[in-house]
Amino acid sequence: MDGPSGSGKSSVSKGVARALGLRYLDTGAMYRAMTWWMLREDVPLDDPAAIAARAGEPVLVSGTDPAAPTIMVDDVDVSGPIRGPEVTGAVSAVAAVPAVRERLVALQREIIGTGGIVVEGRDIGTAVAPDAQVKIYLTASAEARAQRRNAEVTGATIAATQADLARRDHLDSTRKTDPLARAADAIELDTTSLGLGEVIEEVLRIARKHTADADGDSARQARSRAGEPPTRSETSE
Ligand code: DC
Repeated sequence: MDGPSGSGKSSVSKGVARALGLRYLDTGAMYRAMTWWMLREDVPLDDPAAIAARAGEPVLVSGTDPAAPTIMVDDVDVSGPIRGPEVTGAVSAVAAVPAVRERLVALQREIIGTGGIVVEGRDIGTAVAPDAQVKIYLTASAEARAQRRNAEVTGATIAATQADLARRDHLDSTRKTDPLARAADAIELDTTSLGLGEVIEEVLRIARKHTADADGDSARQARSRAGEPPTRSETSE
């Protein structure tokens, strides 16, 4: 599940994972946790080489229960602090450093393992899991995204939040390594005028259809390998 900030990725991904009994991974939280650690260590964030030199140090542990996702850095639970303005303001710079991405993408692939997980981020369909069974790209209008973010984090005006989202989108989409992008085979879903329940239902419908199609394909392939003739519905396709 990829898409820009405020498109509804987190709530939708968690809801879908819970409905399907799957694990859940928030890769944005991993970039935020790395940023929190760099800030704590006083690493100069305007110096990509300094960030790269230390990117291998923090020990990150992501909990994958969609009902209670957690993130720990060096045994500190940073689930709260990574949502603060300091980390939010700095995370795009840290996420643009190739050494950071290399390390976190490797960790993400380790957690994904053989699958059974809903993963949300910016580059999941394009770089982290190009073979994912179902790829969704969520979008929403700039205004709707700013309104949703403001409902989560109080204190800023809609206009200020919208400007901050635009700044981050720009940085995330124009960076050289694995920018925010829709995979060619991802299904795009505009959530501007949909409620959370409606988006989850739509994603579940897409997931069911894809897995049914994939099951049909593998049954067809197995029959063909065994030298059996195609079924009537297969010949009529
Ligand atoms: O989804 P989020 O706002 O928590 O993500 C925080 C930042 O991390 C976002 O500005 C872009 C970056 N990010 C990324 O580069 N790649 C990902 N797979 C996930 C997030």
